[in-house]
Amino acid sequence: RDSEDWARVDGYFSDLLAPADPVLAEVLATNAAAGLPAHDVSAMQGKMLALLVPLTGARRVLEIGTLGGYSTIWMARALPEGGAITTIEANAHHAEIARANLARAGLRARVDLREGPALEVLPELEGHFDLIFIDADKPNNPAYLEWAMTLSRPGTLLIGDNVVRGGAVTQGDSADANVQGVRRFLEMIAADPRLEATALQTVGEKGWDGFVMAVVRG
Ligand code: DHB
Ligand code: MG
Repeated sequence: RDSEDWARVDGYFSDLLAPADPVLAEVLATNAAAGLPAHDVSAMQGKMLALLVPLTGARRVLEIGTLGGYSTIWMARALPEGGAITTIEANAHHAEIARANLARAGLRARVDLREGPALEVLPELEGHFDLIFIDADKPNNPAYLEWAMTLSRPGTLLIGDNVVRGGAVTQGDSADANVQGVRRFLEMIAADPRLEATALQTVGEKGWDGFVMAVVRG
């Protein structure tokens, strides 16, 4: 089995479960035309994030790492009336594209896009958030976890993207700062008595990767 099989199955699932969505298709085309890295979550992963919004009863969502706003759109669409998502993007070009994409999706009123390095923006935010998606520069994941804890409440769901990295996560001696950031992030989650967590590997159109999911204890 290889990545072509994984992508084919993802395509099959997406066609069935997330059929033709002109706005999201336009967003992905815009991102590609603007030269953004194709690091968006897949459609099925985006839909999982969207399902988690009502499942957790989230009204306030925090996303660290907007990129072009693809995952932002999935989660924002799933918010209840009066709900809102704050999303942070350090890269000015990415933020500009995201603003256009969010406007195209008709979601600007529900999305507070903060442009700047997350470690500068996070201290300006007021909790609590009900769902926090960490999907930015991986070397800073340990610091993002600390902020996520500060901005959470008992019951908040934390989700971290890209914790498998094609299997590289198990390489304790890796010279890759992304791997080391993810490993420290996972170790901090494991050691924190306030958190109960699992990690799930995924294969699909985005290759071999996965999510960590942690709930802040009551
Ligand atoms: C990378 C980052 C991501 O958030 C992602 O989903 C895939 C890859 C990266 O930096 O390589
Ligand atoms: Mg990611």
